Amino acid sequence: MRRRRPYVTAFVTMSADGKIASVVRDSRLSCPFDKKRQHALRASHDAVVVGASTVLIDDPLLTVRLVKGPNPKRVIVDGRLRIPLNSRVVTNKDAETIILTCSDNSRSEKITALLEAGVKVLTFPCVNGVIDLNEALLKLREKGISSILVEGGGELLWHFFRLSLVDEFRVTISPYIIGGSDAITPVEGHGFGTLSEWVKLRLTHAIRCECGNEVHLVYRVLGRNA
Ligand SMILES: NC(=O)c1ccc[n+]([C@@H]2O[C@H](COP(=O)([O-])OP(=O)(O)OC[C@H]3O[C@@H](n4cnc5c(N)ncnc54)[C@H](OP(=O)(O)O)[C@@H]3O)[C@@H](O)[C@H]2O)c1
Repeated sequence: MRRRRPYVTAFVTMSADGKIASVVRDSRLSCPFDKKRQHALRASHDAVVVGASTVLIDDPLLTVRLVKGPNPKRVIVDGRLRIPLNSRVVTNKDAETIILTCSDNSRSEKITALLEAGVKVLTFPCVNGVIDLNEALLKLREKGISSILVEGGGELLWHFFRLSLVDEFRVTISPYIIGGSDAITPVEGHGFGTLSEWVKLRLTHAIRCECGNEVHLVYRVLGRNA
């Protein structure tokens, strides 16, 4: 029988010129209503997933605080185990944290320290330090996680889109121009070359934010061959 992966929603907030963080990695793009929407989305998914750099730069809690609702599990994709032991996803106990890393790290002292801190660690075979997210998602599903919210950053989202693992893409466009060729965009990585390779989307909702100055777009992901 074919193993099923969790339903995957990707969500980012970007500037009007398509950046999720500036060259100095400032990413304070959301208005209070967008933040609330983010927390409501977290509450409606079993797990929230971010890349290691987002933890290193933003030190997020990834919990639900601005609306009523359950905290999702926190999943950090950290191929080289770079996140510090004093990061809030490790020290804060309001939600369970699971770190996905490469099996080369299986014997590392960092894993022992993370386990002692109460964090779960799942290891996967990696190619050039990149975890096969197909396998990782199937493992998360086996652990009872049937929906995930991927909040970025751009490098992690590239791997999700590269492997056609996103079902729904949500983006809030906030009223800023950031500029900078080294600023971060919603999807980084190598990128897809020609139109035939691009991921095709269908717009299902366009919601003007309560603040009146932002728009939230919801797309169904049709795939690359659609
Ligand atoms: N505006 C928004 O909505 C939003 C949301 C999230 C983040 N951000 C911003 O985005 C920036 C960070 O984005 P980013 O693109 O630089 O980094 P990122 O995607 O947060 O993290 C990238 C790192 O995660 C690890 N990783 C990702 N996929 C992996 C895989 N398949 N296998 C193994 N490891 C994997 C790698 O760590 P190793 O290199 O150590 O292996 C990789 O370098 C921050 O400035 C943050 O503030 C903005």
